[in-house]
Amino acid sequence: MPQDLAPSGRKVFIKTYGCQMNVYDSERMSDVLTPMGFSETQTAEDADLVILNTCHIREKAAEKVYSELGRLRVLKEERAAKGLKTMIGVAGCVAQAEGEEIIRRAPVVDMVFGPQAYHRLPEFMAEAQRGTRGQVETDFPVEDKFDALPAAERKKTLARGRAAFLTVQEGCDKFCTFCVVPYTRGAEFSRPVQRIEAEARRLAEAGVREITLLGQNVNAFHGQGPDGADWPLGKLIRHLAKIDGIERIRYTTSHPRDMDAALIEAHGEVPELMPYLHLPVQSGSDRILEAMNRQHTAESYLRLIERIRAARPGIALSSDFIVGFPGETEADFEATLDLVREVNYAQAYSFKYSPRPGTPAAGEEEQLPEEVKSERLQRLQALLNEQQLVFNASCEGRIMKVLLDRRGRRQGQLVGRSPYLQSVVVSAPESVFGAIVPVKVLRGGANSLDGELVETAAAAE
Ligand code: 5AD
Ligand code: SF4
Repeated sequence: MPQDLAPSGRKVFIKTYGCQMNVYDSERMSDVLTPMGFSETQTAEDADLVILNTCHIREKAAEKVYSELGRLRVLKEERAAKGLKTMIGVAGCVAQAEGEEIIRRAPVVDMVFGPQAYHRLPEFMAEAQRGTRGQVETDFPVEDKFDALPAAERKKTLARGRAAFLTVQEGCDKFCTFCVVPYTRGAEFSRPVQRIEAEARRLAEAGVREITLLGQNVNAFHGQGPDGADWPLGKLIRHLAKIDGIERIRYTTSHPRDMDAALIEAHGEVPELMPYLHLPVQSGSDRILEAMNRQHTAESYLRLIERIRAARPGIALSSDFIVGFPGETEADFEATLDLVREVNYAQAYSFKYSPRPGTPAAGEEEQLPEEVKSERLQRLQALLNEQQLVFNASCEGRIMKVLLDRRGRRQGQLVGRSPYLQSVVVSAPESVFGAIVPVKVLRGGANSLDGELVETAAAAE
């Protein structure tokens, strides 16, 4: 290790944008930096190293990063005036998409590296410090980046909470015509089962009770099993459910095409698998689904939902929607509203279509005016919010097991997550912090539930 990289109590500020995969990646970057003497800080002002872990999925992502870099340039100069050195790195999907362009437009940046390269951070830092030019690394190396992290270093991060993310799959081969992920995260890659299992065991030993298996296309998972065969996600879930301490399992994000029979059965048969599924449909119009290259129809999605509900009655469903895709007519949009009425979602995310440079849909001529997109988004969100409120209100009076993993805004309050991924606010003593306890739901609001602790666990879902 070069002299100036020796452990010395330096600070790193990692700003994370976007999806849960980025949250996971930021934690792993922090792990890599710990043996180099870095500890995390929550402000850029006292950081010796600032990393922006960026997201490119929607809106003016790249522009936001450049304006943040403008602020950081001022900060770097102010710190330099006090004799303090600041290194700046840009990671994640904007880094992947923009590459060299970032250093050209923002010379203040020392390093640019894509999502497949964060384990090589120490190397980039050494090179950036030696060289006069910024370091750019946006190739897709074939090695498993996950293996490059020493287990011991991870342990500290793993104790961060009772609920943790575990990346099992990365990348996407679907090429929906609106989406940058296949370009920024590359081809599908699944981690081998034994590695995932080892990480899940370490998480459980560190006190984690709920794991969310992450992947851009998580149900396309086909990791090598201990028997040498490719295992689908359903089989992986059954395997992980046997680990002592892992009481709850979730996974996100799924594609309708990859919901296979084994996975649907797992929803009915594995009690650890929580009754909640995020299954994006994007649109209810077959014409638009075709133009999006979604590889499913509204009808095939609805039949799939029927099978999932037959396997796991009462499962809470969630989705992503895009309104105002190029060429979307009022009738197409109404087909989306019809699908929403038919499914009845417990919660959902909806977005205005935003052209991502380099994706096929961005080049379409029939882009919709902003007002049309906004108006449709409002109508869709009104319907989705109504459904969410109805679902939350339907929980009143029920007793559910809640993982109390956060402290509430008020003294004496803890906040947890229900099996259906709702936030539940409970008056509870500190002694139950981190536990999974039965809670009676008193009130179901628009965005959360209020509940009270109950003595008997017997009746809890
Ligand atoms: N415009 C709007 N929304 C998008 N998403 C992905 N790409 C775009 C885009 N270009 C949404 C999709 C996806 C979610 C993660 O983000 O709904 O499921
Ligand atoms: Fe993007 Fe998901 Fe489509 Fe893959 S399946 S291209 S990640 S929207």
